[in-house]
Amino acid sequence: MTGKKTFAHRHILAMDDLSSEDIFLVLDTADSLKEISTRAIKKVPTLRGRTVINLFFEPSTRTRMSFEVAAKRLSADTFNFSVSTSSTSKGETLLDTVRTLVAMHPDAIVVRHKSSGAAAFLASRLDQEPGPRVAVVNGGDGVHEHPTQALLDLMTIREAKGTISGLKVAIIGDIAHSRVARSNIIGLSRMGAEVRVCGPLTLMPPAVEDLGARLFISPFEAVAGVDVVMTLRVQRERLHVSMVPSLREYAATFGVTAALLAHADPEVVVMHPGPLNRGVEIDPGIADSPFSLILDQVENGVAVRMALLFMLLGGKDND
Ligand code: CP
Repeated sequence: MTGKKTFAHRHILAMDDLSSEDIFLVLDTADSLKEISTRAIKKVPTLRGRTVINLFFEPSTRTRMSFEVAAKRLSADTFNFSVSTSSTSKGETLLDTVRTLVAMHPDAIVVRHKSSGAAAFLASRLDQEPGPRVAVVNGGDGVHEHPTQALLDLMTIREAKGTISGLKVAIIGDIAHSRVARSNIIGLSRMGAEVRVCGPLTLMPPAVEDLGARLFISPFEAVAGVDVVMTLRVQRERLHVSMVPSLREYAATFGVTAALLAHADPEVVVMHPGPLNRGVEIDPGIADSPFSLILDQVENGVAVRMALLFMLLGGKDND
């Protein structure tokens, strides 16, 4: 494995921080680590003695579990911070909570928080303070970024298509509230893909094209000839007022169905970061069809997170 040699990052905060060379290195390292999960004994000693804390202030199934699985496959010790039973409920600030955890000498903290910029804030403050060095990994910050999701999506696309450069990718759904969309637009563009976005204009961020995507009003035009369709759920937990007339109308217009995919490349693949709202943003028949890479994304999530922990925490090349 070559990961440690040239990966110069202390934290993983945003796709915006990663060059195409960094991304290739993460994907190549993840490719080489993926087979560990298929062994009878799914464990290597690479990160023995290292400690990873999962600090999730928002719900998660895939990200939290796959970081835990990834760390354990590399023999790191993992601890899950339970927000509901912590002193957060007594008014402790995010920074004081993290300072407290850092005093216990973890090597990495994976943080998910509803506030955009939370992970970067913690990384910057911890870097300025005396005390143990710790890697901060952004497990999703508000509507800003979800870099590890974008990396696993890039791995899944490259695995399915053999390349990323030159592909046409349509991202359909609630782009405004999706940190996954933002990270993927940045990552896909950086890797040479053409990125198209489509969704209700009420759920489209201003200046989305400045991120590197082309805006389409019609889903049929957005998917015309594309190699990949990525669909996103409407993030109702982040909406203070209704931004779509009804989920039924949303599904009828923006749901990924066989009729919509008929306009894409015949070899099109369909992706969704999860959790799915079946029958809303994706037809259940498509979610379970051979077009779907949804469970490949989950599987690759473990490999990508193993790669990131390995690269950040200093695994040895001969492990
Ligand atoms: N894709 C994703 O972030 O899923 P979770 O919210 O379940 O972690």
